[in-house]
Amino acid sequence: MPEALESKSVNKTSVLFVCLGNICRSPAAEVIFRDLVNSRGLKDHFFIDSAGTSGFHDGENADSRMISALKKRDYSQTSISRKFIKNDFNKFDYIIVMDESNYQNVLKLSSDADRSKVLKMTDFKSPKNDRYNHVPDPYFGGDDGFYEVIDLLEDCCANFLKSINS
Ligand code: 4NP
Repeated sequence: MPEALESKSVNKTSVLFVCLGNICRSPAAEVIFRDLVNSRGLKDHFFIDSAGTSGFHDGENADSRMISALKKRDYSQTSISRKFIKNDFNKFDYIIVMDESNYQNVLKLSSDADRSKVLKMTDFKSPKNDRYNHVPDPYFGGDDGFYEVIDLLEDCCANFLKSINS
């Protein structure tokens, strides 16, 4: 059973990445952020997971197009899709959403005290990615969209880690 399945991990910073289907953007964010944390020697200080607001793909692997785009960038993605639930507010310190629709859907389940945990991924973009106000959904597009998402997530994840770890 994953260590943070029932309750908040003690003494760890817990981060949940959220998109619609939990098969493209948030699983990519999960593995990119986890690799970054591991590369900085911070593995034992974090619990990292991802979820989708829809539940459309519950129990499925990530989208094969995203898995192969990630593999080409040396990331190994093995997560299984699950739906975001209200109890995630009790388990996670940060809930990082990919777009405005995810943001509204997550907030619908929140109490007033939970709201400040919910942040948008593009809040952490560098100036070079100024044109993005959300992480674009690559699901209905071509292969380039998956690499575009990976590039943007690498930038935002690095800045997010800096912001919470300095
Ligand atoms: P994601 O992409 O939210 O980044 O996982 C999508 C995955 C599936 C669907 C839409 C977006 N769908 O409509 O099934």
